[in-house]
Amino acid sequence: MKRKITVTICILIVVLLCLQLYRPAIKEQPVTSDINAPANVKAILKRACYDCHSNETNIRWYDQIAPAYWQVAADVNEGRAGLNFSEWDKLAAPDQKAKLWEAVNQINAGAMPLSNYTAVHPSAKLSAEDVAILKAYLKSTVKQPFTDTAKINAADKQFAQWSSGKLQLKNIPVALNGIAFMPDYKNWQALSTTDRYDNGTMRVILGNAIAVKALKEGNIKPWPNGAAFAKVAWASLEDKDGNITPGEFKQVEFMIKDADKYRDTKGWGFARFKTPAMVPYGKTAMFATECVNCHRPQANTDYVFTQPIKH
Ligand code: HEC
Ligand code: HEC
Repeated sequence: MKRKITVTICILIVVLLCLQLYRPAIKEQPVTSDINAPANVKAILKRACYDCHSNETNIRWYDQIAPAYWQVAADVNEGRAGLNFSEWDKLAAPDQKAKLWEAVNQINAGAMPLSNYTAVHPSAKLSAEDVAILKAYLKSTVKQPFTDTAKINAADKQFAQWSSGKLQLKNIPVALNGIAFMPDYKNWQALSTTDRYDNGTMRVILGNAIAVKALKEGNIKPWPNGAAFAKVAWASLEDKDGNITPGEFKQVEFMIKDADKYRDTKGWGFARFKTPAMVPYGKTAMFATECVNCHRPQANTDYVFTQPIKH
């Protein structure tokens, strides 16, 4: 009996040792341009994010042991690919701002830092005060000009073109993943409006008849096939007195549900059309991974941000 136990333990040790042989690499990469933020902001990012989103990954001894190590390596490699504070200047200034906005959003939604990580590294958990510091920093990076003549001129020019009929589409544009522009979105029902202080746009979110019916019936987890949303964005113009009005049309985005057809992108077909010429966004059909990544914190609500108000 005793012998059997000894043999089992020996086998387990050998298996554990064998597991150590498979070690996916976490590359040593130099810090080329660390994000330039105030010390208190930097301290929070270093503590809670840098292990996966920088080239200063600190792998503790207990992280080194496979199979846990495999998860660590996957998280670091995937995390760095989406956001790397050590190579910050690789992003253009507006993209840096957009990434910060996305980061604060993901923290707010409880999606970051990853919960399997904070369970083992409790010091990485963020307090309400930490989150407030990050939000205030994001806000401080934004200058909202009062009357921006360039913005007003752009809106006026666009309006003149529109009223002269020059902006009429000749063909229906199609995104690289095969989703066509849906001109009928203008007749859908407005569900919500949002504004984004970091990039000066205001947005309206509309739903088609299937989405509105599903909302009324509470049938939204998951949303039924055929439900579709449009999100339209305009520049927001602010005058000296603080009055805010829509300016130039920027883009319209769509999400259309088909659990089978769009299985690879969580059951939603994503498409974005920019400028009044409705130029499809994206360089390859894979552009939608960017959409899915940012919508991921809403995994519990079928990847949709806009939710009915609960009384
Ligand atoms: C344990 C590793 C880990 C930690 C710590 C972590 N993240 Fe992440 N993060 C990931 C992984 C993996 C992904 C990609 C997959 C996903 O979204 O789950 C990701 C994705 C993201 C994205 C989306 C990037 C994209 O593709 O556009 C943002 C933004 C982000 N994290 C912000 C943060 C912030 C801010 C912190 C710190 C408060 C943080 N993360 C902490 C692992 C981590
Ligand atoms: C930086 C993060 C981010 C990225 C990237 C992103 N979205 Fe969104 N999306 C949001 C947020 C946040 C909302 C909620 C409404 C708001 O704040 O304007 C939203 C809302 C939407 C909505 C309205 C339905 C809903 O979920 O509330 C549509 C449609 C949409 N996005 C389409 C897209 C498409 C198409 C892409 C890719 C081409 C995309 N989104 C990429 C963050 C993102």
